[in-house]
Amino acid sequence: MRSDETLLAELEPIAGQLLERHLSTSKEWFPHALVPWGRGRDFEPDYEWSADEVELPDEVRSSLFVNLLTEDNLPYYFRTIERMFGADTAWGTWARRWTAEEGRHSIVIRDYLTVTRAVDPVALERARMAQVECGEVPEPETALDGFAYVALQELATRIAHHNTGKLLTDRAGYEVMKKVASDENRHHLFYRDLVSAALELEPSATVCAIERQVRTFEMPGTGIVDFEVHAKAIAKAGIYDFAIHHDQILLPVVLRHWGIEALEGLDAEGEEARAALVKRIERIGKAGRRFAARRQEADATPERHLAAV
Ligand SMILES: [Fe+2]
Ligand SMILES: [Fe+2]
Repeated sequence: MRSDETLLAELEPIAGQLLERHLSTSKEWFPHALVPWGRGRDFEPDYEWSADEVELPDEVRSSLFVNLLTEDNLPYYFRTIERMFGADTAWGTWARRWTAEEGRHSIVIRDYLTVTRAVDPVALERARMAQVECGEVPEPETALDGFAYVALQELATRIAHHNTGKLLTDRAGYEVMKKVASDENRHHLFYRDLVSAALELEPSATVCAIERQVRTFEMPGTGIVDFEVHAKAIAKAGIYDFAIHHDQILLPVVLRHWGIEALEGLDAEGEEARAALVKRIERIGKAGRRFAARRQEADATPERHLAAV
């Protein structure tokens, strides 16, 4: 089994190619151009936000709140990413580019929310301070764990942004979320294909890492004030839940794209991890269908940590 250092050095040419692909498929865009500034007005000193500002279901408000706070916190992942990947070569270039893009996401969503007053700006700022101050960022065990986690997380974020945008009746809001979601998709593709390359180099260790990350997966919004309450609302609105996690991430990426079931040359540990992974995905799918059906009936079902499934 290669050390992280050797693995990263061997994967560096692939990271370089994926970075090139990312840059050549990204079109420059500007947050200011997407924000409907004409709808903005000054906030008086005694301003108190009320939900009547904008007609919006609470679930969608929850999602905007969580999605923005997530974006706010992502640039602080830089510490972990640079420690894991190093500051030089294509790895460092990618980490800095990614950080700058995530920063752009929070700029555009915050400007949009401030102008439209869709979310309480005081609650939002307090929550941002609390989240960044608590400094909660993922600390994956190995580089392979890091790749697997972000491959899943970027796609999850893309889906959450896109589905939130679809529920906004406001065209400008829809365009903001769609633009951010398309960046997340490119981030996902970078990591998805990096995992494919790692599966060729180190199939067993990579399957073990994927298994660990699927088992413990949490949306990056953990650490946000009242995250559980918001996550429940987000699931209720069909923006992100177990069924989506299974049908749009685990099935198409882990099973189909990475072809986990057809991998050859696994050692005993890899075989064991593969069996556990396939079983877990099946269970998450079943739980997703059960929760969705129950939600329809009762309108309120707690969706807990994926590891509990
Ligand atoms: Fe983002
Ligand atoms: Fe992203």
